[in-house]
Amino acid sequence: MKTSQPGPRAARSTAATQASAQPSPPSAAPPSDAVVRARAEALIARMTPEEKAGQITQYFDFLTAQDEAKRVSTEVAAGRAGSLLFVADPVEINRLQRIAVEQTRLGIPLLFGYDLIHGFRTILPVPLAMAASWDPDLVERAQAVAAAEARAVGLHWAFAPMVDIARDPRWGRMIEGAGEDPYLGAAMAAAQVRGFQGPYLGSPDRVIAGPKHFAGYGAALGGRDYDEVNLSDNELWNVYLPPFKAAVDAGAGNIMTAYMGLNGVPATGNHWLLTDVLRKAWGFAGFVVTDAGAAASLQTHGVARDLADAGVKALSAGVDMEMAPPFGEAAFKTLPGALAAGRITTPQLDDAVRRVLEAKIRLGLFEQPYVDVARASEVLADPAHRAVARQAAERSAVLLRNEGALLPLDPHALRRIAVLGPLADAARETVGPWVFQQDDSETVTVLAGIRARLGDAVRIDTTPGVSIPARQFSSIFEGPEHARAPRIAVDDDAEIERAVNYARGADVAIVVLGEAQIMIGENASRSSLDLPGRQQQLLDAVLATATPTVVLLMSARPLDLRGSAPQALMTIWYPGSQGGAAVAGLLFGDVAPGGKLPFNWPRNIGQLPLPYARLNSHQPSSAEQRYWNEPNTPLYAFGYGLSYSSFSYAKLHIDRQKITPAERMSVSVELTNTGRRVADEVAQLYIHQRYGASARPVRELKGFQRVTLAPGETRTLRFTLGPEHLRYWTASARAFVHDDSVFDVFVGGDSSASLSASFEVCKA
Ligand code: BGC
Repeated sequence: MKTSQPGPRAARSTAATQASAQPSPPSAAPPSDAVVRARAEALIARMTPEEKAGQITQYFDFLTAQDEAKRVSTEVAAGRAGSLLFVADPVEINRLQRIAVEQTRLGIPLLFGYDLIHGFRTILPVPLAMAASWDPDLVERAQAVAAAEARAVGLHWAFAPMVDIARDPRWGRMIEGAGEDPYLGAAMAAAQVRGFQGPYLGSPDRVIAGPKHFAGYGAALGGRDYDEVNLSDNELWNVYLPPFKAAVDAGAGNIMTAYMGLNGVPATGNHWLLTDVLRKAWGFAGFVVTDAGAAASLQTHGVARDLADAGVKALSAGVDMEMAPPFGEAAFKTLPGALAAGRITTPQLDDAVRRVLEAKIRLGLFEQPYVDVARASEVLADPAHRAVARQAAERSAVLLRNEGALLPLDPHALRRIAVLGPLADAARETVGPWVFQQDDSETVTVLAGIRARLGDAVRIDTTPGVSIPARQFSSIFEGPEHARAPRIAVDDDAEIERAVNYARGADVAIVVLGEAQIMIGENASRSSLDLPGRQQQLLDAVLATATPTVVLLMSARPLDLRGSAPQALMTIWYPGSQGGAAVAGLLFGDVAPGGKLPFNWPRNIGQLPLPYARLNSHQPSSAEQRYWNEPNTPLYAFGYGLSYSSFSYAKLHIDRQKITPAERMSVSVELTNTGRRVADEVAQLYIHQRYGASARPVRELKGFQRVTLAPGETRTLRFTLGPEHLRYWTASARAFVHDDSVFDVFVGGDSSASLSASFEVCKA
């Protein structure tokens, strides 16, 4: 948490033990840490153990489940709930808040949390897509839009960003993070925290950020969601923890624990992780919440004897708030009993309560617990929000192939096009999985975007061609919006035939393929990277017509196209509410694609895991051919992405050949747009440490810049390398170290960049 400056509210707010029923304008500056603490302590002094336990318990409120909603209202009225999740209707939020503020003994307002993963009403591209923009400023602006919409309806806290590193695309939650790299992941984590929270915790129109899932969740065995994780300390410190550290340094007010076991100890009961690392080593001052039901599930893991034991173990490990299991019993309900039995202490309980109260105080909830419902509607309808979503989708797309410069398409040269595939006109799929408040009728599908862009001048023939068979996702979130999800059911053989005829008669075929959104996200792992259903068959049949073909991939994992070679291939991810408009702009050259892959794209699933930042290990000369049957290189390298223009790098220059570990140096390179149109390039800097206490990866990203250059323009880009880039954690010292070594520097447009230089680091 950022240290805040004393502000006007500090002067007048020492006895904030009662919430005012009337909204008052939020103050312009945050109160000081000391004032916030004093206010929290004053409240704690008046609380019973039951009220304390309630204050650190969060309940799901499903309005769809009437009995459960009633139970939640009862808990709130009894002062046994400090926070709720999943209510998103401002009228209902005000109603529940009124119960907490007006009917409970101490009148402490509720904190409302929500899975604000990629937008609220305005749906942004999924987080993996936004990472592919390599544009932290854009990502910050995008999450600020999500925050503004959420705060307007009365939400205070985002269960986001998800900053888990994902190196196995079988794991569906890869979609929620920034991909495989700790440096890019850290940049995106910090940007999202800034976007959600604004300049300080409690900023108007912003929410608390809750980076998750601490830590290691992405390394689930076999990519199976929730499965155990075994990570060496080396991987943890150098790969999985850096995005969390960056989020904490950016001032994140909350951290959510992970479900799975980490090296045998569940993350939610892991004292080393939550206390030794997060609190003590990193100085995290916010509050820690469990993932849903993760405290109670310490029993399932086999480390807690019963529910009471689970509550004690979670609190003692460093958890401050329990997200109670949906429809289940809260483990923290048992804490008063544990206190009476001497299994936890009052200071332990008070620390947790204080952190939660401090968050409420910083948000100004005691002064302004309610929301203005009329204003909420205005904020949700803000066209500026849609504009940000569109720009985010444009900047996220990654062009992977463009044979014969098929793209951009010239609308004036087209008479007839075929828009094919099960995802071409699928509004619910276009917005991706983690959305609940979107307006499907407002979503611009790819087909709708193309139609709007071309008008009547070009004939468009369209059919899904095939269906995507998707089992119904059985989850706690299954609700009306999932029931409405199109099953995209068509008579395949006849429709494939129709698609082929349309393609044959067209100047160009645009085929939108991928995965239904329900196949990715939480509890949605796949043991295959193939196109689901008969989409490959559809694609092969269209390619056989010899009509120039553009494949647009709607997915958030690398798919195996089994060597199909359409002239153009662009991954558009799940591009959000304005996705179709953005895609049309890209297809017809209104904007040029500039996104780059945030992961290594494997040739097939058998190669996994395949991080670009691998070690040389033994016999690097044979590293390209370790499989008997195929190369072990990726199909597309981390950082790869084409443009409608071309770029060249030259004159790589390092200002100092030798530095001490404490010093900094400057790396410069000349980047030229050698093509004929204005376009973006993401210049990337990688390092390799040649020798030291531990072996270091062949390449590690340590800098990037997304720049826009006019045709023929040359710009000198400068990067800085300093101690924070050159250190790493080694088991030999059980600490971060700087070795005396020689480093290679590579700069270019992807992780296979060849332009290089070297320098030496020497302590003496
Ligand atoms: C997920 C979290 C999410 C929570 C609340 C859990 O199942 O793992 O990421 O924030 O549910 O919806």
